[in-house]
Amino acid sequence: MNAVTPRDVRARKGGTPLVAVTAYTTPLARRADPHADVLLVGDSVGMVLYGQATTLDVSLDTMIAHGGAVVRGGKRACVVVDLPFGAYQESPQQAFRSAARVLAETGCQAVKLEGGREMLETVRFLTQRGIPVLGHVGLRPQAVHAQGGHRTQGRDADEAAAIAADARAVADAGAFALVVEGVVRSLADDITHAVAVPTIGIGASPACDGQILVSDDVVGLSPAPPPFAQAFGDAGREIEDALAGYADAVRTGAFPAARHVTESGGDT
Ligand code: KIV
Repeated sequence: MNAVTPRDVRARKGGTPLVAVTAYTTPLARRADPHADVLLVGDSVGMVLYGQATTLDVSLDTMIAHGGAVVRGGKRACVVVDLPFGAYQESPQQAFRSAARVLAETGCQAVKLEGGREMLETVRFLTQRGIPVLGHVGLRPQAVHAQGGHRTQGRDADEAAAIAADARAVADAGAFALVVEGVVRSLADDITHAVAVPTIGIGASPACDGQILVSDDVVGLSPAPPPFAQAFGDAGREIEDALAGYADAVRTGAFPAARHVTESGGDT
């Protein structure tokens, strides 16, 4: 099992900010693992790797395939896998079956699910049966149609009060931490003060107990990164330069060179 457990994450409330980042593949997980406390195999995989417009079309099998890949790439960070749309909303029992598959087939340590008070019973059902749950409130990409698009949540008092109540419900039901996505800063601050578990913000507030970003945004691979993200590198440029260099070398005959080929009778 990886060194950082959901209990360790839970214990970081009010401490050094938690570093969380999404990962979908073994190579990225290997690179991110030494630096992150949490690797999230987000259902954003559908948009980031498969070019889908929303996260709604991601299957449980896809999450399990990418979850396993990330677990194989990490040994330190706590690996959390998203339950995708349609795999848990029906009933606590359906959620348990999906989460049990995810844990058993990937080797990850926890699942994440989106929702508030309507998910209270489900979060309790899972956590009481040994499945650590990371909650997710505020902007919920799986509720993109109900929430009127990917828009900041909690702009008026009623909406803010409802999201705060959602956060308290999920935390009280046993979630070990909460992702707070796309809400106005004051609401993220209020939630962080109100709940006993760490909040992990994205497009939320620096006062959250940690931050999460999509890995492609962090490394500079996203064609159109969201305004709340920051690129800390230019991997897109590096990849293009490397591919251009390769193409050039092939066309000019510089690649392959003598060291890349095996002469008959020589060592392999
Ligand atoms: O799917 C995802 O990547 C997420 C994070 C952005 C929080 O839910």
